[in-house]
Amino acid sequence: MFLIAVVLEIQIDFLAASLTVEVLQPRYSAKHGDNVTLGCRFPVADPFHVRALNVLWGKKTSKPAEAKEVYVLSQGKEDLLRQHQDYQGRAGMLPEGLQRGQSMLHITNVKITDAGTYMCLIQYEKDADYKYITLEVEAPYKNINLQQQREEGDLVFTCQSEGYPLAEVSWYNESHKNVSMFAVTTYELTTDGVFNVTSTLRVKPNIPGNYTCVFWNKELNEETSAHTSVPESGNLDLQAKELKMVTITDS
Ligand SMILES: *[C@@H]1O[C@H](CO)[C@@H](O)[C@H](O)[C@H]1NC(C)=O
Ligand SMILES: *[C@@H]1O[C@H](CO)[C@@H](O)[C@H](O)[C@H]1NC(C)=O
Ligand SMILES: *[C@@H]1O[C@H](CO)[C@@H](O)[C@H](O)[C@H]1NC(C)=O
Ligand SMILES: *[C@@H]1O[C@H](CO)[C@@H](O)[C@H](O)[C@H]1NC(C)=O
Ligand SMILES: *[C@@H]1O[C@H](CO)[C@@H](O)[C@H](O)[C@H]1NC(C)=O
Repeated sequence: MFLIAVVLEIQIDFLAASLTVEVLQPRYSAKHGDNVTLGCRFPVADPFHVRALNVLWGKKTSKPAEAKEVYVLSQGKEDLLRQHQDYQGRAGMLPEGLQRGQSMLHITNVKITDAGTYMCLIQYEKDADYKYITLEVEAPYKNINLQQQREEGDLVFTCQSEGYPLAEVSWYNESHKNVSMFAVTTYELTTDGVFNVTSTLRVKPNIPGNYTCVFWNKELNEETSAHTSVPESGNLDLQAKELKMVTITDS
């Protein structure tokens, strides 16, 4: 029946297609942690019997047989029995659109791994059709956590942030000289699919001034930075901490 046709995408081609599904947008873009709503529409019969409506939102995987079930409405009723664990508690359908012929898939707390191709399949009575929608997920390095401490007489600054794809970290001193050669940058991939990047700069303590770490997200062409100043007194309290997002060029 319907649900099986769903997972084995190949067979969908054989469904009667006198119903036409359209996408509201072919591509959507969301930021990691945000909510996103993907939409497709279908013609509503008059009178409309919601019990004759089946909706399936699936996500393509490299192996068609392993397509993930994101959300299912079976005979007009939500059916989350086979919902893939990646989407449990995060994917739902906004009910209000259905009567107007809109299926709006709402995904909360979007993850990098949610990026990909989604299928919106609608079956009404004996007719069915489907379309694909692409979701892109970005994760800017927006919150930079800057710390400083003294170690063996040196001053050690650490900048840490999470984002995707992998950022390049550079450090600058007060005269805007690149001092990245004194820094060590490491990263790990978190279970959320973002990179946790940590960069540590070691300087001699008696050089007062202003140090800036810059995260460059090459793919998004986006730069975020944080800076601190070490006062002449050698007091290690953070004097300034600033966060700014600069788009270097419009892409
Ligand atoms: C995302 O949706 C959830 C649940 O509907 C809501 O609590 C949360 O505030 C939303 N988050 C954003 C960033 O809009
Ligand atoms: C900044 O770094 C350059 C190159 O390492 C160095 O010559 C210069 O003295 C530094 N400036 C300050 C204010 O620390
Ligand atoms: C800064 O210096 C590092 C290492 O010396 C280098 O890899 C990096 O490309 C430089 N950054 C910029 C923006 O020039
Ligand atoms: C990121 O890495 C830092 C340093 O290794 C660690 O303290 C922090 O808990 C990590 N954060 C996440 C969200 O993984
Ligand atoms: C430190 O450098 C940043 C970035 O160049 C600048 O915006 C800030 O005003 C400087 N702060 C001090 C105290 O010099």
